Amino acid sequence: MRGSRRADASCVTIQTKKLEWQFRPRDRKSFVLGVLIFQAAILVAAEFLVDTWLRHELTLAPAVADRVFVFRISIAFCVFLMTGVILFLASKRYKDTLEQANDELACEITRQVSSGLSKRNALIFGLAKLADYRDTDTGAHLERIGLYARVIADTMRPNHEEIDAKWIDRLVLASSLHDIGKVGIPDSILLKPGRLTDEERATMQKHTLIGADTLLAIRAKLGPDEFIDMGVEIALQHHEKWDGTGYPFGIERNEISLAARIVALADFYDAVTSKRVYKDAMSHEQVRNMICDLRGTHFDPEVVDAFMENEREFNTIRAHNQEQDVNSLKIMDLEYVARQFIDEQTQIRYEAAA
Ligand SMILES: [Fe+2]
Ligand SMILES: [Fe+2]
Repeated sequence: MRGSRRADASCVTIQTKKLEWQFRPRDRKSFVLGVLIFQAAILVAAEFLVDTWLRHELTLAPAVADRVFVFRISIAFCVFLMTGVILFLASKRYKDTLEQANDELACEITRQVSSGLSKRNALIFGLAKLADYRDTDTGAHLERIGLYARVIADTMRPNHEEIDAKWIDRLVLASSLHDIGKVGIPDSILLKPGRLTDEERATMQKHTLIGADTLLAIRAKLGPDEFIDMGVEIALQHHEKWDGTGYPFGIERNEISLAARIVALADFYDAVTSKRVYKDAMSHEQVRNMICDLRGTHFDPEVVDAFMENEREFNTIRAHNQEQDVNSLKIMDLEYVARQFIDEQTQIRYEAAA
């Protein structure tokens, strides 16, 4: 019996294959039938020999010999039948045991794959957060973008076949990779308070290519992966614009991936409503009006409509997920978290040694 099981964990789907039946159903039937025929042949031959011996050696009366013969035949038939039932039950038990072993194996594989993917996703998110620390102080920017992207994708879902629950989960995590390429941009440009020169802007714009290149290097090691593929699209295209005036390639409309179009708006909203070392924050109302004005030029009109439908929720997410600015970031807090971790590790080592 063949079987397959889809192990879904977080953003990636992996297929596992059940163990092959060593004893296929057709083989099992043939085996049971073969044993029964063989046993019948043995019984008939034995009966013939015993009958001949009884009649000729003991010279029983014909009537008595016939009754003994019928009795022996009945016993033989019962033995024959019971053997069949026992064989059938044994084979069924074997099948159930094997199926149970298959299920347990599939569950274990699913659990391990899920655990591996969770670790990978956590590491990738940590990597993205590291890059985000460069200019957003605490990295809460990434969490908010994921929440905004989920709201927009949920709203657009009825009109897009490609959007399902797994796609949205992938989007939420992959959105954190949008600016991963900023690790390759010098602080003097990344954190510059004033306007960038043309040369500096060109360097800054390279963060899209650096980000995509970084993720493609991971992809080259991992092989094709839906999550990494989406991450590459987002890193590369989140500054492309609906009318084709964006960068790095100036592609337009549906040439830009849907995930990148959604993240573009989420990133813009969050960047403009957040304070940075080089700029002040704008109010939700101001940014909402800006986004409305940019409908069909900078942003996909459908994405803007989904934003407008949920603009109150955007404001709520922003209010509930505020980051501390660089000046209020408490070193004491960081020290407390680090000390807590060290204490935990010491306790684990102490318990292991005890
Ligand atoms: Fe960016
Ligand atoms: Fe960003």
